[in-house]
Amino acid sequence: MAAPWKGLILAGGTGSRLYPLTHAVNKHLLPVYDKPMIYYPLSTLMLAGLRDFVIVSNPESLPQLQKVLGDGSQWGLTFAYASQSRPGGIAEGFRVAAHELEGHRVALILGDNIFYGDGLSKRLQEAVTLEKGATIFGYEVADPSSFGVVEVDDKGRAVSLEEKPKKPKSNQAVPGLYFYDEDVLSLAWDLKPSTRGELEITDINRAYLKRGDLNVMHIGRGVAWLDGGTHADLFEASQFIKVVEERTGLKVACPEEIAYRMKFIDRKQLSELVDESPKTEYQHYLKRLLKGL
Ligand code: G1P
Repeated sequence: MAAPWKGLILAGGTGSRLYPLTHAVNKHLLPVYDKPMIYYPLSTLMLAGLRDFVIVSNPESLPQLQKVLGDGSQWGLTFAYASQSRPGGIAEGFRVAAHELEGHRVALILGDNIFYGDGLSKRLQEAVTLEKGATIFGYEVADPSSFGVVEVDDKGRAVSLEEKPKKPKSNQAVPGLYFYDEDVLSLAWDLKPSTRGELEITDINRAYLKRGDLNVMHIGRGVAWLDGGTHADLFEASQFIKVVEERTGLKVACPEEIAYRMKFIDRKQLSELVDESPKTEYQHYLKRLLKGL
């Protein structure tokens, strides 16, 4: 039987590009319209069916994140927290969370990556059927030079992977969402820092490519992929969520709703969450959900 899945959410870093917003608040708790940023990547992995998570952040931010997210039981989830004392690259996340990840397949998501769109859940649920190897995604962007970039052949198989190339070989950026078999931990321990001194996620993906075990799933233009890296990105992400939510009357990335629809919590638990919430528009939404939205 394949190893169980664990979600790894990276919410560390200094957030220096968002200074002074991030002077006292962890970047992943900043608002994306009406919710903390971290709700979005968490929701993405919940939609994939995952219920056990490790959240990695710097020691100062962990108490803030714990206050917002708790132990996960309110949403039928479990959250463990792991401390990363200084930022050493995305792949370092595996090392600091190693004791939690041992014997698991790992779905890694960067805490500032937001995905939204029709058919996304189906793609994610397909990705978790992976038993061996790794699955990454390819997403067409206008300027791939600030991302990991994957080049694929005419059958959609990966040919090359590069991290922030000056001359990208394709327009397919690799979003911060990755599904790995349980070998990922030992690959993370074997990694050497790159020239910029970081343990690169692209090097993990290259190791799978070398083994002939890397799948690339194309995410089409029907899905939006956004991140909250800069002030402009954050503002645009908020506007995007606002437009979608106002138009549809439905919330994007509401963990209570996803937990309920995925049957991680039952009606009684949802009703308790409603009772515990302050009387806000958010509570009103949860009430509508109880009535069968
Ligand atoms: C990281 C990864 C990059 C990936 C990007 C997605 O870059 O290194 O491969 O495409 O996340 O958001 P960062 O933006 O953290 O520098």
